[in-house]
Amino acid sequence: MTSNDLYFSNGSEVQLFEWAYAQHMPVMLTGPTGCGKTRFVEHMGQLLGREVITISCHDDLTSADLVGRFMVTGGDVVWVDGPLTKAVKTGAICYLDEVVEARHDSLAILHSLTDHRRTLFLDRAGETLHAPESFMLVCSYNPAYRSSLKDLKPSFRQRFVTVPMTYLPPQREAEVLMTEAGVGADVAQRLVNCALSIRQADDAFHFEPPSTRTLVAAARFIAAGADELTAAQACILAPLSSDGAIHEGLYEIATAHLSGTSA
Ligand SMILES: Nc1ncnc2c1ncn2[C@@H]1O[C@H](COP(=O)(O)OP(=O)(O)O)[C@@H](O)[C@H]1O
Ligand SMILES: [Mg+2]
Repeated sequence: MTSNDLYFSNGSEVQLFEWAYAQHMPVMLTGPTGCGKTRFVEHMGQLLGREVITISCHDDLTSADLVGRFMVTGGDVVWVDGPLTKAVKTGAICYLDEVVEARHDSLAILHSLTDHRRTLFLDRAGETLHAPESFMLVCSYNPAYRSSLKDLKPSFRQRFVTVPMTYLPPQREAEVLMTEAGVGADVAQRLVNCALSIRQADDAFHFEPPSTRTLVAAARFIAAGADELTAAQACILAPLSSDGAIHEGLYEIATAHLSGTSA
């Protein structure tokens, strides 16, 4: 196992996932961006010995993108499985990342997979696949930053066991930075403290709070030789907001926690 596979647990999510897997139930991971959802699914794939097939959802995603389509290759028309079909056939964990980005009609294909039927209907191939026991459907979404236009239907959400995720407690988040970027405990703790202050101010600022991902990025900059404030500026503060006044406020918070001078 490399450091890139390391997952720091944050409560009962591993247990919840294992129960859902044992009972062949689909899981919905909720939580802010960069809090470890993808890392968690990869970790569970390793733990359960299942391949994880990830699909990043977006506006234009069609059910054919999920299921597959007929394609012309060398004059022949052949059916090519999409990633969802592959996952069902091989009994993998299928991870639909940011599922809220997909249109409702594209997701309708999941209904028969997320109830007692556990089947996938391949419309154009006229075939019904039965998912093996090891197949699992996992979706993720960030409920805090949805727009009113984009939300999951309650009926869709109720098909899943919800596993709520959030940032790790400060000490553990600092350990992630040390493991992922190789920085010392003191640097890691200062970055985490800086993030905690910004997350607390987040209500007033109304932006997506700084994620563990941005802290790892800053820690890697520091490991590469950047001073703390420069690293924070590039990797944490600037990605949060392009509003000048907000940025000044954030910078003030950062200077209270970190050393160095901004580039
Ligand atoms: N619990 C955790 N254990 C280990 N690393 C983590 C954890 N949470 C976040 N990270 C770090 O933050 C990065 C972003 O996490 P990721 O799983 O991609 O977030 P999400 O999918 O929620 O947006 C990871 O690449 C990893 O470096
Ligand atoms: Mg992710």
